[in-house]
Amino acid sequence: MEYFLTEEQKTIKSLARRIAEERILPVRAELDEKEEFPWAIMKDLADADLFRVFIPEEYEGLGGGSLELCLVMEELSRVCSGVAISYAATALGCLTLMEYGSEAQKQKYLPVIAAGKKLTAFALTEATAGSDASAIRTTAEKAEGGYVLNGTKQFITNGGDAEIYTVIALTDKSKGARGATAFLVEKDTPGFTFGKKEKKMGIRASSTRELVFRNCLVPEENVIGKPGMGFIMTMKLLDRTRPGIAAQAVGIAQGALEAAVDYTRQRVQFGQPLISLPVVQDILADMAIHVEAARALVYSVAKTIDSGAKGFTEESAMAKVFASDTAMKVTTDAVQVCGGAGYMRDYPLEKLMRDAKITQIYEGSNQVLRNAIAIELRKRKARTE
Ligand code: CAA
Repeated sequence: MEYFLTEEQKTIKSLARRIAEERILPVRAELDEKEEFPWAIMKDLADADLFRVFIPEEYEGLGGGSLELCLVMEELSRVCSGVAISYAATALGCLTLMEYGSEAQKQKYLPVIAAGKKLTAFALTEATAGSDASAIRTTAEKAEGGYVLNGTKQFITNGGDAEIYTVIALTDKSKGARGATAFLVEKDTPGFTFGKKEKKMGIRASSTRELVFRNCLVPEENVIGKPGMGFIMTMKLLDRTRPGIAAQAVGIAQGALEAAVDYTRQRVQFGQPLISLPVVQDILADMAIHVEAARALVYSVAKTIDSGAKGFTEESAMAKVFASDTAMKVTTDAVQVCGGAGYMRDYPLEKLMRDAKITQIYEGSNQVLRNAIAIELRKRKARTE
């Protein structure tokens, strides 16, 4: 399918593919097995200027948009989505700052992030607040010179390895969703520590930890945007980032499709390659249809976002739901057509299947997102009545 990418977009995509093939592929099984954070690859991505892709030009970035980030995510995830999410978590971790930060905050942090010298993370989720994201309990009380944070964030991607954190905390408990504020918290701030590294089903190269705040004083100048708007800003930003997770899912599904085609071409049963059997052809064809449909939807939503359109909650949710369900189905079918080999760790498919699962869960579970789509449909219908 021709997506009419610009020359620059093609360059970004092929650069990400080259790093994935040359640097990630040889170590992906080891990173997964040892659950090791991919520091060497983060450096490769930084050296290739890929952290600049999502940062505006005035802060030493390349000024790319949602589509450019999706292209990188797709290519990295085709090989290892644990590496890909470690990269994308930095994009998510600095998006609040990029969109709502002061000039001084942007000047201080964005060039360092663009150079890949510091990773970032985004902290919203808590034990009591997953899908019910406004049920957070971490508080930020006004004190002399800033705010004192108390509470624990859970399941934070890049937790412990990132240097800069965007943390959403309640500055006015009585106001619920309208009482949350976004803060920039640096790793070595007194009162800020980390819980154990989580052991995960998939994306095991990435790190996931608790963030613990105990009387952690964050200076006033580290408030991002307007106090009280932290939750609303976050909801708007997640609408922008969900296509990135959708692109991760497309990459995983593409990787599984290619591995399944390779294997079924070589594997001979009943005197012929598996790929010659109509039953296998049916499965492979369906896989290919779904991967291409997911890609077309993701690129199209990313282009919509980059066009400056307002209000794309529904479209963004659709891309994430469709692509992640596709990744789960395609990787499961790929394991099935490859049989025992698909199930074994010597082949890439069982990893791709484990990695696919999280794309249906994080940045809004597919159930929450279907609910958001249904709400938009109801609103649209009400407007026409
Ligand atoms: N854009 C703008 N504003 C939005 C919005 C959106 N997409 N969604 C909600 N809001 C606003 C609402 O308009 C409302 O504002 P008012 O106070 O003015 O009315 C306010 O936010 C509260 O909205 P709701 O009453 O609908 O909120 P709720 O309490 O019922 O919660 C939800 C619903 C939080 C939106 C939930 O549906 C949701 O999206 N949950 C998913 C949470 C999520 O995505 N977490 C991801 C964590 S980050 C992560 O996963 C990263 C990683 O690991 C890599």
